[in-house]
Amino acid sequence: MEFEKVIRERSSTRRFSEKKLEREKLEKILEAGRIAPTAKNTQDFKIYIIESEDAIRKLDKTHPCRYGAPTSLLVCADDAAGFASDEGHKSGVIDASIVATHMLLEATNLSVDNIWTWAWGNQELADIFGLPETIEPVCVLPLGYRSEEDKGSKMHDQRKDISELVEYL
Ligand SMILES: Cc1cc2nc3c(=O)[nH]c(=O)nc-3n(C[C@H](O)[C@H](O)[C@H](O)COP(=O)(O)O)c2cc1C
Repeated sequence: MEFEKVIRERSSTRRFSEKKLEREKLEKILEAGRIAPTAKNTQDFKIYIIESEDAIRKLDKTHPCRYGAPTSLLVCADDAAGFASDEGHKSGVIDASIVATHMLLEATNLSVDNIWTWAWGNQELADIFGLPETIEPVCVLPLGYRSEEDKGSKMHDQRKDISELVEYL
């Protein structure tokens, strides 16, 4: 897909069908995350794949936004590996967000429907999967194929005008 088309076509899906995500597509999506840039190239992130019945049950117990997707990626920052600026700002959550964005765009490129859902600060999620202490959930990306009943993303076309968002200094 043309890049211009990818960035315009990506939109949030909130109702997935039961159709499984193909392994080759999942691998391409993960590869897009792997090559994303990170601060000082620390690669301070971890991606957990939620696909098994047990993992889906645990996700649904602690996170309200799977929307029926057969595969979800739990994208986390790894604080142990992260870069910290002189002011003490750590890069992990920023890096994990860039990784997640790369993966969402690759999903759209492959015609895999997707959504970013908030998981930052969800300690219950970390606990239920027994994640190491330094691993911090940032987002969950449900992936799959839009159900025919999905109503489309209401806010997708509601964007501020460029003049409100951009200023030449
Ligand atoms: C950081 C972030 C957190 C989000 N969290 C949620 C969420 O928890 N649940 C949800 O349904 N959508 C969530 N969204 C999706 C946004 O609501 C959506 O991207 C926005 O309304 C624009 O719509 P679009 O993605 O279709 O363009 C999140 C998006 C971002 C970037």
